Amino acid sequence: PKQRTMAVIKPDAMEEHKGVILEEIHGRGFSVTQLKEMVLSREMAEEFYKEHREKPFFNQLVEFMCRGPCMILVLTKENAVEEWRAMMGPTDPEKAKEKSPKSLRARFAADILHNTVHGSSSEQHADEKIGFIFGDIGGDAELSGD
Ligand code: CMP
Repeated sequence: PKQRTMAVIKPDAMEEHKGVILEEIHGRGFSVTQLKEMVLSREMAEEFYKEHREKPFFNQLVEFMCRGPCMILVLTKENAVEEWRAMMGPTDPEKAKEKSPKSLRARFAADILHNTVHGSSSEQHADEKIGFIFGDIGGDAELSGD
């Protein structure tokens, strides 16, 4: 069955790498079913990353995510959550370079904070974040359409 995940192209990647990231997303057979380019407000970034509120890097993370435009996408494909995570590679680009040198983070990320892309960790998280960013319109109806 098809699955949805949320992908975010983070502010560090928007100027130089957005084009190639989008090409690779399409090349791997994902359908982009929703897409929005926006500058997150501080409040939105805090809500988006609320699971990390207690982390020592939370404030830096929120500031980074608000510093410029992001592109937020809903990707639809069989096994989308896992496949997008494989494309991203590990959170830390140093680890990504060792374990998954072709991944987006291995190639483009500067460090563990400025790590180019985000992806949902589960289908439940994806549904929650998609609802938060895009509202509930379109939700599962698009999946049952084909
Ligand atoms: P992401 O996959 O979007 O989920 C949480 C984000 O927090 C992560 O990518 C990084 O941008 C950031 N992050 C995770 N771990 C660290 C860390 N140890 N130091 C700084 N930033 C981090």
